[in-house]
Amino acid sequence: MTAATHTPRVLSGIKPSGGLTLGNYLGAIKRFVDMQGQDYETIYCVADLHAITVWQDPAELKNATREVAAGFLASGIDPTKSILFNQASVPQHAELGWIFNCVARVGWMNRMTQFKDKAGKNSEAVSLGLYAYPALMAADILIYHATHVPVGEDQKQHVELTRDIATKFNNDFKAENFFPLCEPIIEGPATRVMNLRDGSKKMSKSGESDMERINMTDDADTIAKKFKKAKTDPEPLPESLDGLKERPEARNLVNIYAALSEQSSEAVIGEFGGEGWGKFKPALAELAVEKLAPISAEMKRLMDDPAEIDRLLLNGSEAAQAIAEPILQQTYDIVGLLRPRR
Ligand code: TYM
Repeated sequence: MTAATHTPRVLSGIKPSGGLTLGNYLGAIKRFVDMQGQDYETIYCVADLHAITVWQDPAELKNATREVAAGFLASGIDPTKSILFNQASVPQHAELGWIFNCVARVGWMNRMTQFKDKAGKNSEAVSLGLYAYPALMAADILIYHATHVPVGEDQKQHVELTRDIATKFNNDFKAENFFPLCEPIIEGPATRVMNLRDGSKKMSKSGESDMERINMTDDADTIAKKFKKAKTDPEPLPESLDGLKERPEARNLVNIYAALSEQSSEAVIGEFGGEGWGKFKPALAELAVEKLAPISAEMKRLMDDPAEIDRLLLNGSEAAQAIAEPILQQTYDIVGLLRPRR
């Protein structure tokens, strides 16, 4: 048997730590929406258990969890087409996560670049959860036997680790092809949206200055101001994509324009090659406002009715558990864990 024998199923998630950024939208949510209703079952989660690997204020965490759910819904995730839930409400993730803690090797974890970046010089003082987090992420994926995982570039190594965990589990327990070898799907012009003030750094929720990122909740004026003040170089846009190689800030803005307008970066250069920033930046700001303002307005509307968000998440949690529980039971059997039942 090969991975192809598994039902094509997409799983991905987003941590509710801080607000959603344009990086989350273009690198993840927009692509989640595009994968809906195609050849896959689509399952998306708000990864709240991942968020608590670093300190989160409890009241703010609940709010942020609903806000990420609102971001999914406002961007076009349709609960009749996709399963949408928060991770903590599907306990099978954490249960399989423990088993994977016992499958993954410490040496593998030591190679995770995101852990090294996040822990920095402080690696003795960070939580054990931050270190083990990729094994829980593997459980998020494999508890559904998911075959495809759309993510931004920064998550590629974690999806590869998921494949290593699946392979080792299947081999150790002689359970051929029980867990599929999932594929990371990292496509399009915006798989790594960069910081607007420093093109060598990723746009993230936790950067120092708010001017370096676009938040999904920013209003139109703020979005326009941030793009107009984005760092660039003095040169006009080149006539071909090659000319962006050594110009990370310029390349980032072109890629953002391409992703928002659903064109290739080549097509954007075809349109704006030779133009200066005085023309390109206002066009980018206008496009971003046109695409993002309706999403941010819808997020606000949804956040006014948290009970409705919770109701949708509960439906999602039930649908997710209906898939996850039989897979967990089979896993316990394979591992030899006894679960006496009535
Ligand atoms: P998180 O919450 O950091 O990011 C969520 C998604 O957004 C993408 N992303 C970006 N894409 C392009 N440019 C950027 N600047 C940018 N910043 C973030 C991320 O690549 C990701 O796809 N561990 C994951 C969440 C997770 C998950 C999972 C993902 C939990 N369980 C299972 C896939 C499958 C995380 O921390 O992503």
